[in-house]
Amino acid sequence: PIVAIVAGGDSSELPVSLRSAQGLYSFIDKEKYDLYIVEMQGLRWEVQLPGGEKAAVDRNDFSFHNGTDKVKFDFAYITIHGTPGENGLLQGYFDMLRVPYSCCGVLPAAITFNKFTCNQYLKGFGIRVAESLMIRKGHEVLNQEITGKVGLPCFIKPNLGGSSFGVTKVKEESQIQPALEKAFSEADEVIVEAFMDGIEITCGCYKTKSKEVVFPITEVVTKNEFFDYDAKYNGQVEEITPARLPDELTERVQLLTSAIYDILGCSGIIRIDYIITESQKINLLEINTTPGMTPTSFIPQQISAAGLDIKDVMTDIIEDKL
Ligand code: DAL
Ligand code: MG
Repeated sequence: PIVAIVAGGDSSELPVSLRSAQGLYSFIDKEKYDLYIVEMQGLRWEVQLPGGEKAAVDRNDFSFHNGTDKVKFDFAYITIHGTPGENGLLQGYFDMLRVPYSCCGVLPAAITFNKFTCNQYLKGFGIRVAESLMIRKGHEVLNQEITGKVGLPCFIKPNLGGSSFGVTKVKEESQIQPALEKAFSEADEVIVEAFMDGIEITCGCYKTKSKEVVFPITEVVTKNEFFDYDAKYNGQVEEITPARLPDELTERVQLLTSAIYDILGCSGIIRIDYIITESQKINLLEINTTPGMTPTSFIPQQISAAGLDIKDVMTDIIEDKL
C-alpha cells in the first residue's frame, strides 16, 4: 500500500507538524508500505519524491505523477496539528474521496479542536473541566466579567489552536486585555479558563477493531510558569513516564481516557491532557486527536514505556482502516 504522511497546515504549529512527519517517516514500516511525505500549505499540496524533487498532488483523487506514472495514495497518516488536519476539514475531504486515514472523523475532530465546545460537551457526561467562557473577535469584554466568572489566575488561550501558541497565564487584571490580544492574533475565538492547580499529566490511547491500548501516563514537570511552547519544544521540562501516581489513580486516569475515546467516537491515536488536583480529582485540560509524533513527543515515549514497538503500533493504525 501507498501511504502519505500528511503534514504542514495553516497554523503556527506548522514547524511542529513537519517534525512529526519526520518522526512518522522513521516509525512506519517501509518494508510494508511505500511511504511519502505530503506537505500542505493552503492550496499548495506537494509530495516529496525520493530524488528530492517535489510533485504537485492532484486534489481530485489524492494522487500525483511520478514521471509518467500516476500514483494514487491508499492511506493518509494525518499529522497536521491545527487546521486543516485536526479540526475535521481534511477528514471531510478524505471521507468524500473514500481515502482511509489515521485519526478521528469529522465530528470528534471538530468537537475536540474547539476547546470551549469540547468542555461543554464532555461536562454533560460528568467529566470535570475548568470553568470557562468563550469570547468572539469583535465582542468587547470587561475585566470584571472575566474575573467574576473564572477568577485569577486564569488562562487565556486561542479557542482553536495547539502547542500553547498565544496562551497567557494571567495573574493580574492588568494582563487581561494584552492576553486577549495575543490570543486573538492566533484565532477568532478565545477561551478564558479558570486556573486548575495540580499536577499536569497526559495519557495516550488507541483502539482498533480488535485491540484497545491505553499507554502509560506521562507526568509533566515544567521549569516555566506553565507548560508553554518553550517548555514543550526547548526542553524546559521534565517528562516522567510512567507518572509517579498511585496505582489506583493511574487506573482511574486510564479508564477515563478510554471512556472519553468512546464517548467521542475517536479513531487512531489520541492523547488527553489532564490536571490532577491535590485531592486526586482528574480535571480534563484538552484532547489532541493528532498528537505530536516528533521523536521526542509524548506518544513515542509512552509507546516505548509500554514495551511496545512503535512500528507495530503504526501498522495497527494503518491496517485497521485499509
Ligand atoms: N499540539 C501538539 C502537537 C500536541 O498536542 O502534541
Ligand atoms: Mg493540544
